[in-house]
Amino acid sequence: MTQAVLTAGHWTTNAAMMEDVLRLWMPAGGAVLDMTWGKGNFWNERTLAHYEVTGNDINPDVDCEHHFDYQELPSHLRGEFDGVVFDPPYVVRGGRSESSSWASMNKAFGLMDAPTTPEALAEQNHRGLRSCFHAVKRNGLVFVKYTNPVSSGRRVWQIDALNHYAQDALRLQKVDEFIFYTKNARAQPPRTRKDGKPSVQKHSRNNTSTLLVYRRTYS
Ligand SMILES: C[S@@+](CC[C@H](N)C(=O)[O-])C[C@H]1O[C@@H](n2cnc3c(N)ncnc32)[C@H](O)[C@@H]1O
Repeated sequence: MTQAVLTAGHWTTNAAMMEDVLRLWMPAGGAVLDMTWGKGNFWNERTLAHYEVTGNDINPDVDCEHHFDYQELPSHLRGEFDGVVFDPPYVVRGGRSESSSWASMNKAFGLMDAPTTPEALAEQNHRGLRSCFHAVKRNGLVFVKYTNPVSSGRRVWQIDALNHYAQDALRLQKVDEFIFYTKNARAQPPRTRKDGKPSVQKHSRNNTSTLLVYRRTYS
């Protein structure tokens, strides 16, 4: 059957993106581990029917098969999968107060015990990426969704760091890259500060995330 040519970014949902990306890269029937299941938004009835999907999330309230910390892959899962999907938190944990708006953000992003600095978060991501590497068979694929967050008023180039680690430390071979545009993709109206003065924009507002596709060519 002929398929439309896939371009690098045009989806309205993560599930639609994953469906296209998996169709391009993963033969049907493959075993896939979603390392950070969350709400399961990467999956729809078609992808769940086409692949043998297993979910993991550290949050015990999430309805999925496993609840391990992605920094330590259980040994019985080593080399078990044709593909691994990894969508870790990309923001650091904010204030601890249960009543603050930080608390709801921490919960929404699954950050309750997460690192509080970009450096510590990057370390955690590296350990997670290492688990992804170990979970796939040789020639298996690792799909990593990430974004460049804003921290203390600055853009942080975490995708570059993650990509270097994947390629230099783990010797994963980057084979593709897709850009996902979030809802507020168009320019926003000018903003006003609390004192009524116009607020001055200091850097671009991020409205994309990136899906990186790697192959484990090295054992
Ligand atoms: C960005 S969300 C993933 C969203 C998911 N793709 C979805 O469709 O809803 C990150 C998820 O990673 C989980 N998580 C955070 N730290 C983790 C860890 N160390 N090990 C396993 N899961 C973790 C969180 O509970 C959260 O559900």
